[in-house]
Parts: sequence; C-alpha cells; structure tokens
Amino acid sequence: MLRTLKIDSATPRHMKGELNMKKRVMGKLGISSSAFGLGCMRFNGPASGDSVIDEQKAVSLIRRAIDGGVTYLDTAYVYLDKTSEIVLGKALLDGYRERVTIATKMPAEAVHNREEMEALLDTELKKLQTDHIDFYLMHGINREKWEYFKSIGAPEFFDDMKKAGKIRYKCFSFHGPYDQFEYILNDNDWDMVQIQYNFMDINNQAGTRGLELAGSKGIPVVIMEGLLGGRLAKAPQNVQALYDAFPVKRSAVEWAFRWLCNHPAVSVVLSGCNEPEQIDENLRIFDTVEAGIMTPDELKLMDDVRSAYISRTKIGCTGCRYCMPCPNGVNIPGIFSSWNNVSLYDTDPKDSWELGFILKNGAGADKCVGCGACEAACPQHLNIIESLQLAWKDLKQG
Ligand SMILES: NC(=O)c1ccc[n+]([C@@H]2O[C@H](COP(=O)([O-])OP(=O)(O)OC[C@H]3O[C@@H](n4cnc5c(N)ncnc54)[C@H](OP(=O)(O)O)[C@@H]3O)[C@@H](O)[C@H]2O)c1
Ligand code: SF4
Ligand code: SF4
Repeated sequence: MLRTLKIDSATPRHMKGELNMKKRVMGKLGISSSAFGLGCMRFNGPASGDSVIDEQKAVSLIRRAIDGGVTYLDTAYVYLDKTSEIVLGKALLDGYRERVTIATKMPAEAVHNREEMEALLDTELKKLQTDHIDFYLMHGINREKWEYFKSIGAPEFFDDMKKAGKIRYKCFSFHGPYDQFEYILNDNDWDMVQIQYNFMDINNQAGTRGLELAGSKGIPVVIMEGLLGGRLAKAPQNVQALYDAFPVKRSAVEWAFRWLCNHPAVSVVLSGCNEPEQIDENLRIFDTVEAGIMTPDELKLMDDVRSAYISRTKIGCTGCRYCMPCPNGVNIPGIFSSWNNVSLYDTDPKDSWELGFILKNGAGADKCVGCGACEAACPQHLNIIESLQLAWKDLKQG
C-alpha cells in the first residue's frame, strides 16, 4: 500500500498549489520539460546498503516530485543493482506515467549485437511497465565506447526503434574529455545529450564549451552531478564565509542550481534526492530560477566561490598520466586526485570512490620504492615521491 500524503499547515508549498515548477523548452525538440529532473540513482535509506532500495519510500519520493511539477525522470538499466527501473515503473502506475517523460540507458557492457540490444530494450520496457521510452541513452560513453556502439550497429538500432515507436529520442550520456565530446556530438544526429556539469566543472569533462556547442546545434542538454553527487551541498568553511558575506542569503544547494539554470543551454538539471525534504527544497529552488537570472554580483560570487574551492587544492597534478605506469603499480594520478577532492570538498576519505578503487586494486602509495621514474616523466615537475607519502598519510588517517 502506498502512503497517502495528508495536507496540513506544515504541508510544503508546492503541495498546496503555491509553487509552479519552471518549464524549459528542450532545444530543437520543441517540447517543454520541468527544469528539475529527478535522478533515480540514489533512493538509499541511510541505514541501507548501497544497492538496497526502500521501495515504498522511493515510490513516495518519485510521486512527491511529480505532484510538485517534475516531468522528467532519469534512470538506467544498471542503477541500484538493476532495481531502479522496476521501482520507477511501480511509481508510474495509477496515471503517473502519462504525466512524465522517462530517460533510461543502454550500457555498452550488456550488449554485443542487435539481438541483445532488442532483448535489453524489451526488458527495460517491461521493468518500467511502459510501451515506450522517451529519452533512450547510450550510457556513460566516451570515444572508445562510442566506437564500440557503432561497431555493433547501435545508432541504426536506435533509429529503427524510433520508427517503431519504442523510443522517442536517440541520446547519449557522456563522461570524458571535451575533444571526445565534440567528436561524438558531431558524429551522429542526436536528439539530446546528458553531461556532468556544475560551477566547478566548467573546464572539466564536456565543460562549458561542450554545453555551448550542443546549445549552438539546438541539442537539448540534461545536466547530471549538478551538486557533484552532493559534495557541493555542504560548503567548507572558506566557501561558506563567502556565501554568508553576500547580501542575499541562499543555501549552497540553491546557489549551485541557480548558477546552472542561469545558462540558457541547460534544459534539465537532474538531482538525485534521498529524502522528502530534499525534494521539497529543490522544488522550491527550481520555482525561482530561470535563464539569465543572475546579476553580475552573483556571478562574481560564484567565481570567488570556485577560487575558494580551488585554493584548497593539495597538489597541482593535472592527471596527464605521463608518470604512468609506475613499475610498482602505484596509481599516482588517482591518489593525487583523491587527495585533492577530499581536501576541496572537505569530505571523509572513506567516502572517496577513487581511494576505494585504489585500495581494491592494491595501487596505494605504500607500494612506492622511490625509484624516481615518475618524477623524471612529470611535466609539472612535481615532487611525486614525497607528495605520495603525505597524501597517503592524510587519506589513510581520515
Ligand atoms: N549517465 C551517467 O553516467 C550518470 C552519472 C551520474 C549520475 N547520473 C544521473 O544523474 C542524476 C543526478 O546525479 P546525482 O544524483 O549525482 O546529482 P547531484 O544533485 O549532484 O547529487 C545528488 C545528491 O545531492 C544531495 N542533495 C540533493 N538535493 C539536496 C538538497 N536540497 N539539500 C541537500 N542535499 C541535496 C543528496 O546528497 P546526500 O546523499 O548527501 O543526501 C543527493 O544524494 C542521478 O540520479 C542519475 O540519474 C547519470
Ligand atoms: S617513485 Fe614510486 S611512484 Fe614513482 S615510479 Fe617509482 S615506485 Fe612508482
Ligand atoms: S605526470 Fe605529474 S601531473 Fe601528470 S599525472 Fe603524473 S603526477 Fe600528475
């Protein structure tokens, strides 16, 4: 049984009809969408393991968002141990499906030929309990994955499925450097792209250049990681001081979403919410933001905030990998990236996925024998050997 939400004086404003979710036109598609799109990758109760969904709570969160005006829902075949699509399908019963558009994705790892692509799409339609998917994405591609998708005929398959009415739009989500994004964007006829973007990632991944390139072609852009997976929601002290000193008081989350929605090429901003309060807060924020809304002072504040974050950088490693491979298996750029990110966002090293990956692969700084091969290769002339030991001490003590 699904919980029925009772309306009383503590009821959020959107449930009393006092808020109107801002809509944005999705580029050349000409359709409109809520600016806030709900990401269905999280939904973990605090006491749950990583892949366990409290199904009733998740259904209630999804419906709360839709009742508040959200019309865009993002999931993927692999999310939450392949259960996210099932839960979304259940949430969209009782007339909710007709009120929204769904985005889901095909992972390269799961398909090797047309028969497998057909079977996967049919499985996803069944899990979602729908006869069509609105936005169908090649999941998390870079140049290598795109070449693979082309080699198995995925672009033609997507086109055929559009004609058959099983999907409406051919799209991709992207993780990689800008040059690869530009190549993929120009290499096919895309209906939508999904990129990682936030005020810290202007020069990272597709970045502002990628966003504007897609915008110039009329291709709608959906944003993921707008809060960097939640890291931008909790400002470290030097950043909070800047927010506090600004005449208009807003939370770190509100500043981050406001900055994103200010950009006219952004169509939808995804946010994965774990609690009803986060849904309500995001509904409130997205009611107030639209393209071109930020004043010069506000834009300067966000530049200062970015600089304040960057000032927390531990080491100027660019991740170029000239030092790799280390003959002793040390993941040098991975350790430096984890060290920087933990410092930048003031997070617990235990929550660093990069550190987890390094530990799992036995690629820690404890393997370094000080041979010096990496220092000779580093174009930044970094004192790698000493820095690795400092980084390892910080990360392992955290
Ligand atoms: N295609 C891909 O390769 C890919 C990759 C990543 C994400 N995605 C999609 O993009 C969606 C969005 O990414 P994301 O979930 O990483 O988004 P995000 O907005 O960057 O981070 C979501 C996290 O932000 C925090 N948060 C959200 N609203 C908040 C609020 N009002 N106040 C305080 N904290 C708040 C929560 O953190 P706490 O956990 O601390 O509560 C939440 O888990 C995902 O759900 C997924 O659907 C796709
Ligand atoms: S000095 Fe250490 S990290 Fe650098 S190459 Fe040698 S073993 Fe690897
Ligand atoms: S060569 Fe230097 S800058 Fe490049 S990844 Fe290695 S440590 Fe970082």
